[in-house]
Amino acid sequence: MRRKLIAGNWKMNMTPSEALELIEKLEGLVKNDEVDVCYCVPAIDIVPAVEAVKGSNVAIGAQNLYFEEKGAYTGEISAAMLTDAGVKYVIMGHSERRGYFGETDEDINKKLVKALEHKLIPIVCCGESLEQRQQGLTLSLIRDQIRTAFNGVSAADAADVVIAYEPIWAIGTGVTATSEQAEEVCADIRRYIAELYDEATAENIRILYGGSMNAQNAAELLSMADIDGGLIGGASLKTDFGSIVNYNK
Ligand code: PGA
Repeated sequence: MRRKLIAGNWKMNMTPSEALELIEKLEGLVKNDEVDVCYCVPAIDIVPAVEAVKGSNVAIGAQNLYFEEKGAYTGEISAAMLTDAGVKYVIMGHSERRGYFGETDEDINKKLVKALEHKLIPIVCCGESLEQRQQGLTLSLIRDQIRTAFNGVSAADAADVVIAYEPIWAIGTGVTATSEQAEEVCADIRRYIAELYDEATAENIRILYGGSMNAQNAAELLSMADIDGGLIGGASLKTDFGSIVNYNK
């Protein structure tokens, strides 16, 4: 049985002091022993956030990492820095990073390999634009994104990776994919992992849906067979996040 993961993506929100306030506000609301919970916070919030969640069911994630081990890469953060700071998860390939910062599938592949080397749990994002969906390219595009991202990753490592399917047209728009649309893509991702690796890897890998998930639509999306959790932006900054974590109560 795959354990569900409810991951908040705070994006570029919350100063360190605001982060501590939000963690405190959510503390009693995000308790649910049946799911994994994480907050992917801005880099500068990582150290205080790790301290603030100690002893709770919440883990801290980062929103990015650099794929080199260390050195002259001004402004970047390494996998070793993240693990040393107590980070458990790291997002890569978010459509905002692909769109605004030119992150490519090849970059994502290098980040994935580096994160796995350091025992971080990668959350690899993929997803299509509205135009690509309308042209019928969704499944082939996502298979391309996954194939390149997982290049050279062993089956044993792949099983620990989390994939987040996030249709770009659903991110921050208030337009959620229907549960059938989300399930269709998540099921195809699992089929493709079985083709690239094997059935056992496909059965173990967790596939999240992201894009305007909220307290109202979470339970239905999370009831789908191949949706193993959510990557939540806007609603992760509010007490609504507690209702999403407790979607099964
Ligand atoms: P949203 O963002 O929930 O605000 O749509 C999701 C994401 O970008 O991860």
